[in-house]
Amino acid sequence: MRIKVLTLFPEMFAPLSASILGRAEKAGLLSVETLDIRAFTNDKHRRCDDYPFGGGPGMVMTAQPLHDAFLSATRGFAARRVLLSPKGRTLTQRRAMELAKEEGLILLCGHYEGVDQRAIDLWVDEEISIGDYVLTGGELAAMVLIDALARHVPGVLGDETSAAEESFMEGLLEYPQYTRPAEFLGLRAPEELLSGAHKKIEAWRREKMLTETRERRPDLFEKLELSADDRVLLGLEERKPRRRRSQNRERDEK
Ligand code: ADE
Repeated sequence: MRIKVLTLFPEMFAPLSASILGRAEKAGLLSVETLDIRAFTNDKHRRCDDYPFGGGPGMVMTAQPLHDAFLSATRGFAARRVLLSPKGRTLTQRRAMELAKEEGLILLCGHYEGVDQRAIDLWVDEEISIGDYVLTGGELAAMVLIDALARHVPGVLGDETSAAEESFMEGLLEYPQYTRPAEFLGLRAPEELLSGAHKKIEAWRREKMLTETRERRPDLFEKLELSADDRVLLGLEERKPRRRRSQNRERDEK
């Protein structure tokens, strides 16, 4: 996957060369290129912003350097064009997975009080927000988006999707994890997990997923379709007694 980032602060993207994303770049699975918007301005003072028409606080990013940056970035590169903005649709795991299927992306990082709407109308396919709060610019949001979707580019994480991710997709939070030692500062890991009994471990984990989701994210819990087993784990229902074979035979003979 190839990503071009249009930004006034290319130096902010240094963290992407560390860790898993750095490895993915070296392995040729992901390429992130920054284009400095300032390099495209025709202004003799190299300005890329101006006062808003109609007045009001702050500055607005001007259309010309953005237009020229997009012209340059799209030459020979068919890509979906995304503006990072608090006005956009909130990023979800599902959207990150979908965007990871694109061959190319161009991310525009907004700054100041906004971006001249004409540049948006001319070039932007989609606006994405990473949450209901306002950052000083789109750079951190772009890095969050790149990280979230890079995990879905085949080969970046290795084969396994993590259990945490799968449960999140199911609308559940992950169960708590423990590792050695079995006892730390007098705190013992749950006996169920130490038991080695597969069924017991599964039931414990499922119960924790359900109870943690109910406590921490009632909005997600409300949307769940609970199975009969889930209802038993939550104590909402009694476990149905297993029918004895002799009862089944009586039923079948009727
Ligand atoms: N730019 C400023 N705030 C933002 C947000 N919450 N998401 C995406 N881009 C932004």
